[in-house]
Amino acid sequence: MAELKVKFVGKDLRSPIGVASHAVLNQGLSGAKEETDQLKMYADYGVGFVHTPFICSEEEHPKDAPPGWKFQHVRSREPFRMEGLLVATEARRIMCRLNAGLAMIESLRETLPDDVAVIANMIGPGADPQGWAELCHMAEDAGADIIEMNVSCPLPAATAKAVSSYSEGELSDAAGSLLGDSPQILLPVVKAVTESCSVPVGVKLTPETGFPRVVGLVEGIKNAGAAFISGINAPITVGPPDIYKGGKGKWVGMQENPICAALGPWDRYLLYRNLGAISLFVPDIKLAGIGGLVEPEHIIEAMMLGARVCELSSGLLWKGTGLIKECLEFLGDYMDRQGYQKVEDFIGIGVKYIKPVEEIDWRQEDFIATVDDRLCTRCGRCANNICLARTLAENPLRIVIDSRYCIGCGLCQSICPENAVSMVEQKHPVVGISLDNA
Ligand SMILES: Cc1cc2nc3c(=O)[nH]c(=O)nc-3n(C[C@H](O)[C@H](O)[C@H](O)COP(=O)(O)O)c2cc1C
Ligand code: SF4
Ligand code: SF4
Repeated sequence: MAELKVKFVGKDLRSPIGVASHAVLNQGLSGAKEETDQLKMYADYGVGFVHTPFICSEEEHPKDAPPGWKFQHVRSREPFRMEGLLVATEARRIMCRLNAGLAMIESLRETLPDDVAVIANMIGPGADPQGWAELCHMAEDAGADIIEMNVSCPLPAATAKAVSSYSEGELSDAAGSLLGDSPQILLPVVKAVTESCSVPVGVKLTPETGFPRVVGLVEGIKNAGAAFISGINAPITVGPPDIYKGGKGKWVGMQENPICAALGPWDRYLLYRNLGAISLFVPDIKLAGIGGLVEPEHIIEAMMLGARVCELSSGLLWKGTGLIKECLEFLGDYMDRQGYQKVEDFIGIGVKYIKPVEEIDWRQEDFIATVDDRLCTRCGRCANNICLARTLAENPLRIVIDSRYCIGCGLCQSICPENAVSMVEQKHPVVGISLDNA
């Protein structure tokens, strides 16, 4: 039987799959027994760690901000089908208040087995290193095994106030992703927290920090004493306007189109970018994968790119808690089938294949496309795009490949709806390299 245990930042976890930090929908329940019980239930399903929702340093809920989130499901037609959720709310409504959050940490630590880590997700006071240090220290005192600095929440950054204060070089109190994307302010904050806490501290990245800036940022975070990087949090976006209603927003019950956050499958490539880049360029910091992991296979992909643990987020909103069980069972079966005895056997094994483009051996003259006439329905899709090597029109019964022009790029194979195209190894001339001699 495969062994799912994993060591993460010095802590022995019973499995590498956990649940991401999730603020609840109703602010009245934030940090309440119901929410704590929900996290305990995740543990009953077999996760190796749970996160608190983001805990802030304030005690009172803002009186002028009623509870509330809005979600919107965005889908595209075939063949794109890039589905995801958009979410909008005013962040200060939903942060877990300090004492409720600390009580939640205490209760979780008292109840959960030792090999299920309690990760405190903290959203501190803007750019104030001391305030952050005190807040995170309180979470440690309450029993948190690991501190995760949430410097990446998109929601506080989606305000007009954030835009104006940022352009003036200042950050508002709950700065969210603005803090995470401002290295000169972030790094002293991280240093203050790592110096005040004795449990491992990690930083949850915002996808607003792109490649290659993320590499320098992570190097700085590591030097500031952080033990791990998690992320990504959700990117900021704007929902599609309703093209049949004069461009209004499509959100339930309102016309406005708020600046919002994008969740789900589309986040995964931002996560993989970060995992790949960090594993390659800052290999000695530990990684937790979160963002767009909505199928069991995604967990293994992220781990092969260097994540030691993985977190489920909007996948759970879509599929429910059954996704935890599905992922754990799949992981065990997969490891048995592949002959991996422990997760260490495959963590990071994909990293050695990640290369900057100038180091790739493209082998374009070694492969050529072929079509299986039994599967091809002559839909014409592959002959009706930018490839000049394929034609349907000349021969309505068959797709014809002109081997002089094929560069073995794989486009036709990627877009064929019938899986009728294969790439076969065959030396052939490539335009621009050897056509003149063909
Ligand atoms: C309802 C909801 C609440 C969230 N609350 C938090 C939070 O309190 N702290 C945090 O760091 N991230 C929070 N997130 C972000 C998720 O942890 C995760 O980073 C994000 O959903 C991207 O992952 P996904 O693409 O798998 O959804 C929240 C996400 C959702 C959907
Ligand atoms: S896309 Fe596939 S099914 Fe359609 S014509 Fe090309 S090979 Fe045939
Ligand atoms: S592999 Fe690329 S170049 Fe060759 S036929 Fe397909 S799309 Fe055209």
